[in-house]
Amino acid sequence: MSELKKRDSFGSKIGIIAAAAGSAIGLGNIYRFPCEAGSNGGGAFIMIYLLIVLCLGLPVVIAEFVIGRRAQSNEVGSFRILSKGSRLWPCVGYVGVLCALLILAFYSTVSGWTIEYIVRAVQNDFSGKDLQALETDFSSFINAPVRPIIWQALFIAVTALIIFKGVKDGIEKYVKILMPLLLVLLIALCVKSLTLDGAKQGLSFLFKADFSKIDNDVILNALGQAFFSLSLGMGCMITYGSYISKSDRMSSTALSVVLCDTSIAIMAGIVIFPAAFTFGVSPEAGMGLVFNTLPMIFNQMYGGYFFCLMFFILLSIAALTSTVSLLEVMVAFATEELHISRNKATVCSSIIAFAIGVLATLSLRAGTSLSVGGMSFFDMLDWFTANILLPVGGFFIVIFVGWFLGKKVFVEEITNNHTIASKGKLLIFFLIRYVAPVAVAVIFISRLV
Ligand code: PHE
Repeated sequence: MSELKKRDSFGSKIGIIAAAAGSAIGLGNIYRFPCEAGSNGGGAFIMIYLLIVLCLGLPVVIAEFVIGRRAQSNEVGSFRILSKGSRLWPCVGYVGVLCALLILAFYSTVSGWTIEYIVRAVQNDFSGKDLQALETDFSSFINAPVRPIIWQALFIAVTALIIFKGVKDGIEKYVKILMPLLLVLLIALCVKSLTLDGAKQGLSFLFKADFSKIDNDVILNALGQAFFSLSLGMGCMITYGSYISKSDRMSSTALSVVLCDTSIAIMAGIVIFPAAFTFGVSPEAGMGLVFNTLPMIFNQMYGGYFFCLMFFILLSIAALTSTVSLLEVMVAFATEELHISRNKATVCSSIIAFAIGVLATLSLRAGTSLSVGGMSFFDMLDWFTANILLPVGGFFIVIFVGWFLGKKVFVEEITNNHTIASKGKLLIFFLIRYVAPVAVAVIFISRLV
């Protein structure tokens, strides 16, 4: 009981939706999704992505919420408590905490870039520049010796400050106002992008599925992107689930989070690709796709200065609510399992993440030796966490809920101990128990073979 009492919890339903959506919505939607869609053939990728989000993403979000709220503990603690002393299940939690650390490391690199772009937006630095000038600026920035690292440090420090304040005051308050604002801005950008010359080409790239482009790699990348974007497979939603109140309707919360996350990603695509085709940026341009294409749109927009500034501020905040959730996974683990004070845990976790993060940032510089198997250290962290660790984590999470906890516990949680009705519960349980594990295993094995 004392353990229950000292745990923070979200103040309202909208608070948990906002926080979980805040974790899910971030660079993964606005930066990573267009990059992945662009380099995996567009429409075909998106179709598979949507299918995976619906059949695997949604059930895994619910499974994570069930684990967290049932156990009322951090990720490792949740597995320990619910598996009643098993030594193996908590390992899923340990891997998740490690994964949070690795994601935070490279995620903070790009998060730092958003600060650079806020500064440039304030200085009206993009105005009047053509694509080539923007590309040169971008690459000289990521090749600069210290600037990206300073922004990265600043970003992690702000994340730590929010974590110091605790879940309710720290996370809930900001996300509730800022996420809707991001949505409004994206809608404005979509409208602008759709009036550009390349709109038709961009949309057909996005939505016309060319099935010949689908191969095992594309499917694995879509799986990784779905898990990454929904913050699944590494315990974020377990940790946040542990702060959900016992009277919350978890399945509708999960559905809201999935819908918000997915629509923001698709909207980002609708903003980026028409503009990319208009200005001649290749859809496969990777990192520069977003950071170079967007300023080109703003340059052509009435009130571009204002929109540009707002956009990069909101992008930065969207990234912040995601880094907060990553750090929270580590801090909840360290305070509850290792019995370290919250402040100490926050400082130590941040420093470790920053140390690894610096290597990720430096590995993007031209001519660096920080690469693994032909990939930069940054890309390796990104690929390994999203495409390997998250799906594997997700696999064990659904096995745990579907087979270990079983239907009785699942139904108790989803119906708040039989006090509310939940129409789709059996379908969701079926997806968790059979469909999700089989699908993840098949995608993995076929990729390996
Ligand atoms: N989902 C976040 C995004 O889309 C990234 C993230 C992944 C956050 C995993 C937490 C855990 O940007």
